[in-house]
Amino acid sequence: LVPKFLTPEHAKDLLLRSHELLQDFDVKTHPMSVFTTSDKAHVGDEYFLNSSDNVSFFFEPSALEEKHGRTYLVKPKEQAINKFGHALHLYDSEFEKVTVKNPKVEEIVKKLGFLLPRALQSMVICKQPGIGGAVPSHQDGVFLYTNPQSAVGFWIALEDATIENGCLSYAPGSHLTHPITKRFVRRFDKTTDEELGGTEFIYLNGHEETIARLPPDEKLKWVTVECKAGDLVLIHNSVLHRSETNRSEKSRFAYAFHVIEGTAEYDKLNWLQSKVFSTI
Ligand code: FE2
Repeated sequence: LVPKFLTPEHAKDLLLRSHELLQDFDVKTHPMSVFTTSDKAHVGDEYFLNSSDNVSFFFEPSALEEKHGRTYLVKPKEQAINKFGHALHLYDSEFEKVTVKNPKVEEIVKKLGFLLPRALQSMVICKQPGIGGAVPSHQDGVFLYTNPQSAVGFWIALEDATIENGCLSYAPGSHLTHPITKRFVRRFDKTTDEELGGTEFIYLNGHEETIARLPPDEKLKWVTVECKAGDLVLIHNSVLHRSETNRSEKSRFAYAFHVIEGTAEYDKLNWLQSKVFSTI
């Protein structure tokens, strides 16, 4: 946790900008995609796969209702979005300034030893009051896989994050004990190498024993990370982290992006295929 990474005023400006973007997006032309990291819902969803290079909006599943084969929004749209991204740093000047034109980010990536730091997967996570869904325990290296592993998450609170509104929690030391054993990938035909559409999880070779010996998540010690608007949480690619459902009256907006090492291999299996990788 890096306290006061942004001033409270700067965090507030980004929060206001986030609300403007939520106001401005058009529900009528939206395919009503939900966001989930499970391997069921948006798997196969083109809107999700195409979001690498634009600003796309993903609904909370409980903000939508199915009736007579159609999907209806049952919440005001500003309170119905789970997250939006995944290229805010390319398409919104305020988020660009905090990501790729920010000397404080440059200083951190230098201290972390990046040679060619690249920004990707920028998004605002809304964690809406009352319905903001839980994010199950995961490692970011599963979703942004580089060889060698290099992704670091920059998670900036735009509002105070508390236990009540679903702050992050993590398993200390898990980045040392829990290697990346699987990947979230685009589906390809193994024979023709043709892209099939959709995504799936694949297990990495040689990790069957690793998976068998790892303790289940509930046996790990979990630490909550309550923080103030403007604080930064840095997330190692292999650390287990999660957040609970927001059952409070207060939203928990955060801006998150990732930095990967440009000298590491980033292959076509990764779900996120950006035409532009911004160098920090
Ligand atoms: Fe994460």
